[in-house]
Amino acid sequence: MPKLNVEGFGEFEVAEGKRLVLALEENGVDILHACGGNARCTTCKVEFAADEPEKMTAAEKDLLEARGVEGARLSCQILCEGD
Ligand code: FES
Repeated sequence: MPKLNVEGFGEFEVAEGKRLVLALEENGVDILHACGGNARCTTCKVEFAADEPEKMTAAEKDLLEARGVEGARLSCQILCEGD
């Protein structure tokens, strides 16, 4: 099972393949997902201190570019596939 280490919350194991935004929410991290995980709002954005996933959906890439967001990712578009 992948491990997440979240600043201020500690480390926890999550189900392989689970959406990151849901894994965070299940473990007590207060994170929004106003558009329902459809890559339309950016309220689910997170920053990675290490091990940022290389895969990026086209929807995530398009929205981050359209909003001019740099250094953050959309947790609704990321599957937990590694630590
Ligand atoms: Fe809206 Fe992720 S929940 S972009």
